[in-house]
Amino acid sequence: MQTTKTRILPTQIAAETFLVHDHAGEGSAPVSIALNAMVIRGEQPVVVDTGATEHRTQFLDDVFSIVEPEDVRWVFISHDDVDHTGNVNPLMAACPNATLVIDWFMQERMGATLEVSPLRWRWMRDGEALDVGDRQLQLVRPPVYDSPTTRGLFDPTTGVYWASDAFATPMPVPVHDVVEIDREVWTEGMATFNQYISPWLELADERRYLQTVDRIAALQPTTIAGCHTPVIAGDQVADALDITRRTPGLTVPAQPDQVVLDQIQRTLAA
Ligand SMILES: [Fe+2]
Ligand SMILES: [Fe+2]
Repeated sequence: MQTTKTRILPTQIAAETFLVHDHAGEGSAPVSIALNAMVIRGEQPVVVDTGATEHRTQFLDDVFSIVEPEDVRWVFISHDDVDHTGNVNPLMAACPNATLVIDWFMQERMGATLEVSPLRWRWMRDGEALDVGDRQLQLVRPPVYDSPTTRGLFDPTTGVYWASDAFATPMPVPVHDVVEIDREVWTEGMATFNQYISPWLELADERRYLQTVDRIAALQPTTIAGCHTPVIAGDQVADALDITRRTPGLTVPAQPDQVVLDQIQRTLAA
């Protein structure tokens, strides 16, 4: 079993916009899953999602290599899953001038796990815009998602869209950019991810579902970044939208079942 983890330092994906990389599964699973966050270092710096608890030191080190703690003005959480909220409490504690952008339902669902004072919250929903001084960040829900609180974040000044859990794919090995993944592997990986996180796709009216993909296309993003994907840029943006449009009609592998767990347990016990 591989024990050393590939360290990917933060990468600049647009002007003053940085992807904070992390991943899980390397060495212990057939594929790795990215666990990214993002920093927009504009007039009022914004941290977008907060990574997973088990990688806290690396996450905070990486964020604070991009922006000083006292300069962070906003922490935007895309939804209440633990891989997006894992470091929200220590991040807010370290950033005294930051306001936490969540919504009503997110704080209801997080309950006592959210240790940030309500006096530091701001509730914002899909369709609203967050004024961060030199730009207006637009909250736009992605087409697929696994929490009712999900809102993506679009920066019109760079064309970067933060997709939360959408446009995601497993990686055979950790990489920076989806062009480093075999195209068929990427297509199947994204369709699989989309169906796993949104099992309601089979219930959705096709025309209305496609409108949600068109809504993202209409933003004309230059780059799609997300928690669970290497960066998607250039021609791959249109490809990602196309795969997501076609997802409901694609056949994907079944999720691992008890037979797989039996194998894992035998390996662990050996
Ligand atoms: Fe999620
Ligand atoms: Fe996630």
